[in-house]
Amino acid sequence: MLDKAKGLPADQVFMDIEDAVAPLAKPDARKNIVAALNEGGYDGKVRSVRVNDWTTEWTYLDVIEVVSGAGANLDCIMLPKVQGPEQIRALDMLLTQIEKSEGLDVGRIGIEAQIENAMGLTMVDEIAAASPRVETIIFGPADFMASINMKSLVVGEQPPGYDVGDAYHYILMRILMAARAYDKQAIDGPYLQIKDLDGYTRVAERSAALGFDGKWVLHPDQIAAANEIFSPRQDDYDHAELILDAYEWYTSAAGGARGAAMLGDEMIDEASRKMALVIAGKGRAAGMQRTQTFEPPQS
Ligand code: GLV
Ligand code: MG
Repeated sequence: MLDKAKGLPADQVFMDIEDAVAPLAKPDARKNIVAALNEGGYDGKVRSVRVNDWTTEWTYLDVIEVVSGAGANLDCIMLPKVQGPEQIRALDMLLTQIEKSEGLDVGRIGIEAQIENAMGLTMVDEIAAASPRVETIIFGPADFMASINMKSLVVGEQPPGYDVGDAYHYILMRILMAARAYDKQAIDGPYLQIKDLDGYTRVAERSAALGFDGKWVLHPDQIAAANEIFSPRQDDYDHAELILDAYEWYTSAAGGARGAAMLGDEMIDEASRKMALVIAGKGRAAGMQRTQTFEPPQS
C-alpha cells in the first residue's frame, strides 16, 4: 500500500499508526512509515502521518520516532480524536522540540486535527485557532457516530428512523464554519463501503456542495470520484473565469469604472467576484482549462 500510493492521482497520502493498525503492530508501523517517507516517491502529494490520540500510551513515541526519523520528508501530523486546544498545543510543543534537536525548519510540519467526538466538535473553534501549525480540520464520521450513540453502523449514511433531513448537517456545518473562520481546510472523512461508488458519490457530493475542500479515499477506486466531485463542473468553471474577467474590465476606466454591471442577463458585483474566485480557485487547483473568453461589449 505504501508503494502503491506513490502512483495514485490523490492530492495527499496519509500513513496510519492509529485505528487501522493493531496495537501489537504499531512499533513496526512506525518503522515502515519512516522507511517509506525517506525512500520518497510521493512527489506532488502532501505527506501526512496519523499518530495515535493523546489518551493512549503511544502518541509521544509515534511523533518522536516518525519526526526524528523522517521529519524532512513529512508535511503534516494528523492528530485523531482531538478534544481541545491543549491537545494541539502539546503536539505543537513536541514538534518544535524535535525540529530543533534534529535541525529541521521550526514550524514547517503542519497539524491536521480530526474531529471525532462531541467534545471535539464543541471545542472546534479553539482547536482551529490553537496553533499556526493547524492546516486542516477533518470530520471523522465513524468515531463520531460511535461517540454520540448514533443508531447506525453504516458510516456516512443516514441512520434508519431519521427521515426529516441530513443527520450530519449540523456536524459538517460546525466544522466548516470553524475552518472558514480560521482559514483552514475542511475535509470530510471516510466512506467505508468501498465497493459502493454510488454511495461514496452521494455522501461526497453533500460535503462538496456545502464547501468542504475534499474527502478521504480508502481505496484507489474512490479517487476519480473524489477528484471529480471536489472540482467545479466545466461550465461553472468557465462561468467563474468569465465573471472575473468581466468584473475586472467593468471596474476599470475602460469599462466605465462600474461596481455593478451586466454579464448577459446576470448582474455582477464585488460579491459575485468573491463567489467566482472560490470556483475559479478550485478549478485552477484541479488544473482545469477554460473554454470561453470574455469579450468587452462594443460601444
Ligand atoms: C475516521 O477516523 C473516522 O473515525 O471516521
Ligand atoms: Mg477515527
